[in-house]
Amino acid sequence: MQGDRRVIEDLDGYLQIELTGHKQYLLAGAVFERWGLSRLRDAERAYAQEETAHAAVILHRLLLLGGVPHLADVGPVTVPSSAKEQLERDQALVTRAILHLKDAIGRAQAAGDAGSRELLEEMLVDEEEHLDWLEQQLHLHGALGEKKYLQAQL
Ligand SMILES: [Fe+2]
Ligand SMILES: [Fe+2]
Repeated sequence: MQGDRRVIEDLDGYLQIELTGHKQYLLAGAVFERWGLSRLRDAERAYAQEETAHAAVILHRLLLLGGVPHLADVGPVTVPSSAKEQLERDQALVTRAILHLKDAIGRAQAAGDAGSRELLEEMLVDEEEHLDWLEQQLHLHGALGEKKYLQAQL
């Protein structure tokens, strides 16, 4: 089955974001573990798994459409200096994922690729939930202050 070229490019672009997310959240989980912040550690680990699952679905679809995935183009990931910095970094990546997905959904629709559109729509819902969680954490961080927020994450 040969897919639309733009849809294949969009899937490949989203794959880079998912794999960057996987690496970023895996590293953040390990850093939060070192800092004794168990709740944030568990959340980052769960999101790392979610992005791995998303990446697997995208890879499957990309190959089915006759595309070639670019697994080497994953973005750089660095150790955060604070919990807030990590949450803001995650927020930036998830926001990028949502913008990419919305464009990709529109193009899949225009290309008549309902299967890709449906997959991307399911992922959009997950990313919106992820963004909502991050916004909630950053709000709590601001409302409680750094010290109380971190106490609640032990
Ligand atoms: Fe994702
Ligand atoms: Fe996500």
